[in-house]
Amino acid sequence: MSAEPTALITGVAGQDGIYLARHLLARGYRVIGVTHVAVPASVYLRGVELQVCDIRDSQSFEVLLRRERPDEIYNLAALSSVGQSWTAAESVAEINAMAVLRILDLLVRLERAIGYSPKFFQASTSEIFGIAEQQPQDEDTPQSPRSPYGSSKAFAHNLTANYRDSLGLFACNGILFNHESPIRPTHFVTRKITRAVAEISLGLSERVVLGNLDARRDWGHAADYVKAMAAILQHDAPDDFVIASGRSASIREFMELAFDAVGIAESARYVDFDPAFLRPAEIPQTWGNPKKAETKLGWTPSSTLRDLVTHMVRADTVRIRTGIEECLGYLFAETVDDALAFTSESHAQSCPHCCA
Ligand code: GDD
Repeated sequence: MSAEPTALITGVAGQDGIYLARHLLARGYRVIGVTHVAVPASVYLRGVELQVCDIRDSQSFEVLLRRERPDEIYNLAALSSVGQSWTAAESVAEINAMAVLRILDLLVRLERAIGYSPKFFQASTSEIFGIAEQQPQDEDTPQSPRSPYGSSKAFAHNLTANYRDSLGLFACNGILFNHESPIRPTHFVTRKITRAVAEISLGLSERVVLGNLDARRDWGHAADYVKAMAAILQHDAPDDFVIASGRSASIREFMELAFDAVGIAESARYVDFDPAFLRPAEIPQTWGNPKKAETKLGWTPSSTLRDLVTHMVRADTVRIRTGIEECLGYLFAETVDDALAFTSESHAQSCPHCCA
C-alpha cells in the first residue's frame, strides 16, 4: 500500500459514510466519497473527494475503479429503512443486493484482467438474523430475514462470503447491529425520539407518536462502529464480524433515557401510539455478541447507551436553540465527554469547527 492509502466509500453522505470518512481522513487516508446523485456542500464531507456514481451502474463503477484504484472499498450505499423497504422492495433488491453482486463480479474481473485487487467491506446487518432463537446472535447464528431489507442484505452478505471463500477476494462483512448518532435521520426511532424530546423540553412540542415500544435493539454509537469497519479491513485475513454493543434495550428504555437527559421523569405522559408505525413483521429483539471482534480486532465500543442517548438529545437541543442544523461539533469528538462538552449552549458563539 502507498504512503497515502486511498479509500472509496459508497453512500458517503449517510450517517456511517460521514463518520467513516472522517475517521479515515484523520488516519491519513485519501477518501473518495461516492453518492448516487450530486449532494449539496456539507461541512461533514470536508476533505472528501466526491464522485457521483450509481452503484447499480457497473460500467460507471468500473471506470471509477480503474481511474482511482482505491486500496479499500467500503460499500455503505443502501436503502436502509427496514420499515420503508416494504413499499420499495424492488429498489431495495436492486441497490442492496444486485448492485453488490455486480461489484463483486467486477472485482473478480479486474483482478484477473489487471491484477488489481482492493479490499472490500460490505455493510451487513443484524436484520439478516430475523427472529433468532439464539440469543445473543453471533457470526454463526442461522439467517432468517423478515423483511425485503433483511432479505436483500442476506443475499449481499452471503455473496460477499462466497466470493471470498471460493474466488479469493479480500471481501468482508461487518454484521452491524443498530448504531446511532446525532446525524441519524429522524425516520429512525432513536433520532425521532431525541429530536422530539428536545422539542418537548423547550416547550415547542407536546407529544411524540411512536409504534412498538416493546421491541428491543442492541444499540451502539456510529462513531465506534466505523472504527470496527476500518479494523476489519486491516485484519490479516478477510472475515465476517458481528459489531454490537453486547446489550439489548427496549424502545421504551431508550425513550426514558432520552427524557431523563432533559430532567423529565414521567415520559409516558408525552407519548402517543399510532399503529401506522407498526411493521408487517417485527423483530422483537436483536442482541449481538461482539466477542470475535473484541478478540481478533481488539475492538470494543467506547460509548454506553446512556452516553449515546445523552449525546443525541444534547445535539438536538443545541440545534434547536442555535438554529444550526449541521456542525462538525455535533458528531465528531474523540470521546463522548468531548462531544458532550462541545454541545453546549455557547456553541454558536464559540464553535471551533465550522460555524465561527
Ligand atoms: N422507525 C420507527 N419509527 N421505528 C419505530 C417507531 C417509529 O415511530 N416506533 C417503534 N419503532 C420500532 C420499530 O418497530 C423497530 O422495532 C425499532 O423501533 C427500530 O426501528 P428503526 O429505528 O427504524 O431501526 P431498525 O432496527 O428497523 O433498523 C436499523 O438498524 C439495522 C441494524 O443495524 C436500520 O439502520 C437498518 O438499516 C440496520 O440494518
